[in-house]
Amino acid sequence: MLASGTGTILEALLDDAELPIAVVLLDRPCPAAKVAERAGVPVELVERTDFGSDFDREAYTERVVAALAPYRVGMLAMAGFGTVVGSALHRAYPGTVLNTHPALLPAFKGWHAVSAALAAGVKVTGCTVHVATLEVDDGPILAQEAVPVLEDDTEASLHERIKAVERRLYPEAVRRFADELALGRDESPSKDGEGERL
Ligand code: GRF
Repeated sequence: MLASGTGTILEALLDDAELPIAVVLLDRPCPAAKVAERAGVPVELVERTDFGSDFDREAYTERVVAALAPYRVGMLAMAGFGTVVGSALHRAYPGTVLNTHPALLPAFKGWHAVSAALAAGVKVTGCTVHVATLEVDDGPILAQEAVPVLEDDTEASLHERIKAVERRLYPEAVRRFADELALGRDESPSKDGEGERL
């Protein structure tokens, strides 16, 4: 798991008894650290100190990959991770980095998804679980659920209602993805040795 914030989505994943979470990696000191510690899961802090325009994203990502390597995990799930990772992470975990986003992608990509939905006056927004790619908030969609926008919603009230859905939808989607990944890996190679699945 990769996290940066309050860690409420992280907590929902840690509470899922069927998800064997090996490590929580953080890019800054944040409440998510306590959430991981309470669950008895190792925490790796790969602190990002540069938030400027010349931030060396690839060098930082290499540090993340190196910190994760000893845990030999089969997939990653981002839960409010505040750094856009570089290509090294996608090379190390090809097609197996998941993310949850507080909007119905492809609408309202980026950091301000909830306020942008409010500003646009949409009556329905929601959340999306997807495979992360180098392109931010892009990649194959695994699950989505709609959340109504109420008349008197503020960014905080709407985000909280979306997060309540994410806390259920994300663990389910991660579990399903992990199961399919494990099945794919268990499958013996086909006769011609290509290991192709029908
Ligand atoms: C979630 O809304 C997630 O979609 C977004 O960051 C938020 C994390 O929430 N990427 P929390 O810090 O786990 O409460």
